[in-house]
Amino acid sequence: MTPTPRALGAQLPPVFPIGLGCMGMSEFYGPSDDAESLATLAHALERGVALFDTADTYGLGANEALLGRFIAEGGAKRRAQMVLATKFGIVRQAGVYERRIDNSPAYIRAACEASLQRLGVEQIDLYYCHRRDPAVPIEDVVGAMAELVRAGKVRAIGLSEVSAATLRRAHAVHPIAALQSEYSLWTREPEAELLPLCAELGVAFVAYSPLGRAFLTGALDTAALSAQDFRAHNPRFTGTAAQANAQLVAQLGELARAWGLSNAQLALAWLLHKQPHVVPIPGTRRRARLDDNVGAARVRLTAEQMAQIDAVFAPGAAQGGRYPEAGWVGMEGRA
Ligand SMILES: NC(=O)c1ccc[n+]([C@@H]2O[C@H](COP(=O)([O-])OP(=O)(O)OC[C@H]3O[C@@H](n4cnc5c(N)ncnc54)[C@H](OP(=O)(O)O)[C@@H]3O)[C@@H](O)[C@H]2O)c1
Repeated sequence: MTPTPRALGAQLPPVFPIGLGCMGMSEFYGPSDDAESLATLAHALERGVALFDTADTYGLGANEALLGRFIAEGGAKRRAQMVLATKFGIVRQAGVYERRIDNSPAYIRAACEASLQRLGVEQIDLYYCHRRDPAVPIEDVVGAMAELVRAGKVRAIGLSEVSAATLRRAHAVHPIAALQSEYSLWTREPEAELLPLCAELGVAFVAYSPLGRAFLTGALDTAALSAQDFRAHNPRFTGTAAQANAQLVAQLGELARAWGLSNAQLALAWLLHKQPHVVPIPGTRRRARLDDNVGAARVRLTAEQMAQIDAVFAPGAAQGGRYPEAGWVGMEGRA
C-alpha cells in the first residue's frame, strides 16, 4: 500500500511522508563520501521521497552545491520530482561552529541569490528562516520572504525553531507552509504548543533530527565520536546523560525487535502516528539506511503500541540539553 502523501501548505504539492535531510552529507557527523551521498539522493527519488532538506550553512554552501550537482546531473525531469527546501540566517566562519544570526531584508535577498546559484535552480520550493535575529521584527522578515515569493524566486516560506507566538504573527503576514523544529522521541517540547498551532493554521510540522542524530537508532557508538563530530560536544551524547539515554534506547530496541522493526523505523513511525501534519526528515548518507527509514512510512502502530513507546520515552525522560551552548543562538523558547 502506497503511503498517503502529507501536505506542505497550500503552495506546494503534498509529499511522501518522509523526506531526506541532507546536512550530514557535508558537515557535523564526520567524514562523508560524495559518491555515496549522490547515490543516496538518487535512491531517495527512486523510493518516492520528494522533500529534500538543506541550508546555506551546511558545509558553508557545500551541501547546497552537492544538491546543485545532483540536480544538474538529472536535468529538468529530476528537478521537477523534487521539493527543494533550504534556509538562510546563520552566519559562520569556515571551521567554526559559533555563529551569528542575520535576518535583515538585505541579507535575506543576498542569501537567496547565493542559494539559487549554488543549487543551480531558478526557484527554491521552500525557503526557511533558519534562526531568528530578535533585532528584526518577524513581520519584516516574512515581508522580505514574501517579496521573494512575488519575484518568483521562492514558492513557499517556512520558519525554523521559532516560538508559537512568532509563528502566529508570521502567518498573519504571509502563509507559512512549514515550521521546522527538532522533534523526536527524546525532544518532545513541540507537543505543548507548536504542534497544535500548526494544526490550527494548516502549517506542516517538519520534524528535524527525528532519529536523535542517530542516538535513537542504537547504532551510534558515542565513545568513538571524533572531536570534529558535533555530537561529541552535545550534552545528550556525553557523560552520565549519554549512559542514561542509552538505557532508554535499549528498551526501545526491545520493543522494535519484538515488532520486527528497526529502531529507526520505530522512531519514525511513532512520529508519523503522532499527528498527520508531521513530516520527518531523517538524514542519511547511505542507501541501505534510506531504505530502512523509508520503510517506516508503511508501518502501522496500534494505540497500545504507541502507549508502550511513550511509556519508555515520556516527555522529559531524556537527559541533557539538545544543543551545546553556542548552538542556542537564534532559537526561540529554549528547552
Ligand atoms: N532546522 C534546523 O535547525 C536543523 C537542525 C538539524 C538538522 N536539520 C535537518 O534535519 C535533517 C535530519 O536531522 P539530522 O541529520 O540532524 O539527524 P537524524 O536524522 O536524527 O539522524 C541522522 C543520523 O542518523 C544516522 N542514521 C540515519 N538513518 C539511520 C538508520 N536507519 N540506522 C542507523 N543510523 C541511521 C545517520 O548516519 P549516516 O548518514 O551515516 O547514515 C546520521 O548520523 C538534517 O539532515 C537537516 O537537513 C535541521
